[in-house]
Amino acid sequence: MFKNYFFYRDKELFCENVPIKELAKEVGTPFYLYSKKAIEDKIKSYKEAFKNYPTLICYAAKSNSNLTLLKIFQKNGFGLDTVSGGEIYKGILAGFEASKIVYAGVGKTDEEIKYAINLGILSFNVESEQEVDVIDYLAGKLGKKANISIRVNPDVNPKTHPYISTGLRKSKFGIDIDEALKVYKKAVKRKNLNVLGVHCHIGSQILDISPYREAVEKVANLVFQLKKDGIELEYFDIGGGLGIKYKPEDIPPEPKDLADLILPIVKETGLKLILEPGRSLIGEAGALITQVIFTKNKKDKHFIIVDSGMNDLIRPSVYNAYHHILSVERKDKKVVADIVGPICETGDFLALDREIDDVKRGEYLAVLSAGAYGSSMSSNYNVRPRAMEILVDGDKFFIIKEREDYDYLINKELKPYCFVKDNL
Ligand code: LLP
Repeated sequence: MFKNYFFYRDKELFCENVPIKELAKEVGTPFYLYSKKAIEDKIKSYKEAFKNYPTLICYAAKSNSNLTLLKIFQKNGFGLDTVSGGEIYKGILAGFEASKIVYAGVGKTDEEIKYAINLGILSFNVESEQEVDVIDYLAGKLGKKANISIRVNPDVNPKTHPYISTGLRKSKFGIDIDEALKVYKKAVKRKNLNVLGVHCHIGSQILDISPYREAVEKVANLVFQLKKDGIELEYFDIGGGLGIKYKPEDIPPEPKDLADLILPIVKETGLKLILEPGRSLIGEAGALITQVIFTKNKKDKHFIIVDSGMNDLIRPSVYNAYHHILSVERKDKKVVADIVGPICETGDFLALDREIDDVKRGEYLAVLSAGAYGSSMSSNYNVRPRAMEILVDGDKFFIIKEREDYDYLINKELKPYCFVKDNL
């Protein structure tokens, strides 16, 4: 069971040994708050679960690409799963060896591909036949060989939100599994490619892990077929997707459950394993701390208006996702309220019709399980500076991303503006 590092001591919410209210008063809100111990616990549980099989765990940078957090994974021997040149850039900056970086994505540009070829990444997870041609061509032009795996789409339903289901035939990701053999046969003939693996990723926030078995079995059959045809691979990448606790009653699967389920099948292929977890490493380790600006009562509704909204955490608006919210100082009296942000959109909410402590103007709330796809999906909508990020370690805290300010926001506009306005 995962130990919770956000907890009440008497009536006050702490992150490890740091009292959140005092921290919020000192640094201002909103901010994302991460527990280092929570991250390390998750790292340990993944390492432990897969320690008896050759496995490279590639942290999915898209879930949270803060440099300091990347560094924690790098220091623990992890690889990195990326989906853009920018993520690769941050990964290299954080010290990841290129030989531990995998790169997926349906729309890699020529510039991004060349950048990754020059670095010599472990594998392009290739998502179309055309991409095979382009990577081969660009590698040839650079006088290099590129390592590739084919991302196959096993047509498995991961039983999660449709927007985060990626392994269904109708989704834009990967190459249909029944087309894959043909693409492999073509790819192995290319002189600028090393065809070294197979990749699949069925979806995200998976709480019932049985679809992994179906996917891994289907992909293993492809590996056996490839072997018969003389195509030997080295890596079996099963992507990420393990779910986490959002609702208090959620019982998420542990890495050990996944290992027990898939390792017997992967072993039969003899391939080394790659995993790409994101959310299950960082999600529960983070909370979004926000201050109540106003409360108001309308006819049938009580509203708690906070200084953080869909610009900092878009998941409730986009996926109707539930995030548990605690008041930083526990109250006896409860209310039912919509907890909404300052953004000029009706869809800007953190929770609807939620029973919550009766918080007042100036008090603080902690939106839990916001470590993954919080800061990484944040925006400057309504010209709101992005929030600060803070890492707690025991009774110490470190600011790991400064709050953006107005100067930062106009930085890339100001020079063109000065030029154009005078020439209008
Ligand atoms: N590998 C690939 C190829 C992926 O597409 C993803 C996530 C991962 C790994 C990491 O999945 P994880 O372990 O974090 O579930 N914004 C959505 C989630 C989108 C996930 C996209 N792909 C959300 O907030 O729920």
